Amino acid sequence: MLDESGAPRSATVMPNPLREGLAEERVPEPAVMVIFGASGDLAHRKLLPALYSLTRDRLLPARFAIVGFARRAISDDTFREEMRAACNEHARRRPIDPALWSAFARNIFYHQGEYEDPAAFVALKQRLADIEKSLGLHGNRVFYLATPPSSFASVIRSLGQAELAPKPPPPGAPKPLGAPPPFARVIIEKPFGSDLETARALNRDVHEALDERQIYRIDHYLGKETVQNLLVFRFANGIFEPIWNNRFVDHVQITGAESIGVEARGGYFEQAGSLRDMVQNHLLQVLSLFAMEPPVAFDPDAVRDEKLKVLKALRYIPASDFEQYVVRAQYAAGSSGGQAVRGYREEANVSPTSTTETFVALKLNIDSWRWAGVPFYVRSGKRLPKRVTEIAVHFKEAPHLLFGRRGDSIRPNVLAIRIQPDEGIALNFGSKLPGPAMEIAPVSMEFRYGSSFGVEPPEAYERLLLDCLLGDMTLFTRADEVEASWAWVSRIHRRWAEDAAQQESGRAVLPTYPAGSWGPAAAEKLMTADGRAWRLP
Ligand code: BG6
Repeated sequence: MLDESGAPRSATVMPNPLREGLAEERVPEPAVMVIFGASGDLAHRKLLPALYSLTRDRLLPARFAIVGFARRAISDDTFREEMRAACNEHARRRPIDPALWSAFARNIFYHQGEYEDPAAFVALKQRLADIEKSLGLHGNRVFYLATPPSSFASVIRSLGQAELAPKPPPPGAPKPLGAPPPFARVIIEKPFGSDLETARALNRDVHEALDERQIYRIDHYLGKETVQNLLVFRFANGIFEPIWNNRFVDHVQITGAESIGVEARGGYFEQAGSLRDMVQNHLLQVLSLFAMEPPVAFDPDAVRDEKLKVLKALRYIPASDFEQYVVRAQYAAGSSGGQAVRGYREEANVSPTSTTETFVALKLNIDSWRWAGVPFYVRSGKRLPKRVTEIAVHFKEAPHLLFGRRGDSIRPNVLAIRIQPDEGIALNFGSKLPGPAMEIAPVSMEFRYGSSFGVEPPEAYERLLLDCLLGDMTLFTRADEVEASWAWVSRIHRRWAEDAAQQESGRAVLPTYPAGSWGPAAAEKLMTADGRAWRLP
């Protein structure tokens, strides 16, 4: 594998007894990671715990530094103490190991600054040079934008002005003699834009300062083990690919259900809604991996080219029978885990007249040879009965049923790919009941990560941070993918805006569902109208 300058990537082998005999470990080059938005929730709950876990698993290089950048004026030591508390609360393996922590914390630093202030970035440049000199680092840098999205463009502009992230030489440029030049990569959190226009504008800003080969747009669903296993399941096994098409598949259901409400994120969610928050990114990414053609190589652009084709082949929802394809709703008061819970409009920082959807169900068609005529039903919501993300592939019935009335209980085969929790894959099929009669009952053949491998899967952020340090872009979304998914999703938002404008109040009429239920009756109707039903995951 080559990095963005065309030089071979480092691939030092580090032993890890758990993975012995399984695969070669890759360890990145020494580097420094700057986290913008270091005071925020993401840095505390996900990023520092993931970096600590990677250190614990000996997957980071020995020479590695972290610089938190945010507005508050605090010292390195205060930041280290805050991060220690965060890792103790959120790291995969807790409590943290004190000896390991003190070695890890020695290379954590804090830099105060405003995202729009060029002087703060000039000072950051000097600070990085000092840290790199003292730790013997060679200038490899990753910049993580964990700020509110409104600051993405400012940070990128400031990085460019301070020449902190120079573009790599163009592809095919003669390779420099000696060591490859240091890398500068930028990870951008979601949401990447809020519609097609803003995503395009952000891509333009980003491309002014950076080259696409430096940009890692993160979608943490792609870091989930089971999502990656989709690729292995499909392309490392010979028996599934021949049936992965409209000759054998009747329809596909993708569910991203959460039992939690909006919690403390009411202010953000009011602007987002489920379609932006879960579908435009996570679920369309899952769908594109599920439905794509086999790439010619397991190489970032080969994989992303195929995903892009799926996103481009999504048929626009017909305006005439929009309601048969799109359902949205909002949770009302109800119960969750046996506790009474309030409705969305009563949540903190949510308008009492809000029309933001907390549930969405969609019927999608992919206009391609492989998937013509196979509907994909996608639903996502908050305050549903449980947290579960799964893809269920419903196969067609056997062409001729031999068993008369005894076969009434035969159900078409379903392959359920459980992304979380209880990660695994189950195949349901009909089996003969023991006994003299030819009775048939549904049974299931199951694979579970936990019992098969005996280890808990790593956190998505661990995998993605490591991949970025290694220069592997396969699990990050490219500019054209993001725009293609926004192009599809933004039409739905536009239609909702038009519908609301036609109401006397200028507001949408939104059905509700009781918290703790599987969504509104209209979501059931979307399926029953096609003679199908949602699977109970
Ligand atoms: C985030 C959304 O991107 O994904 C949240 O903003 C959602 O609203 C979360 O809860 C779900 O992620 P996971 O990994 O818990 O399924």
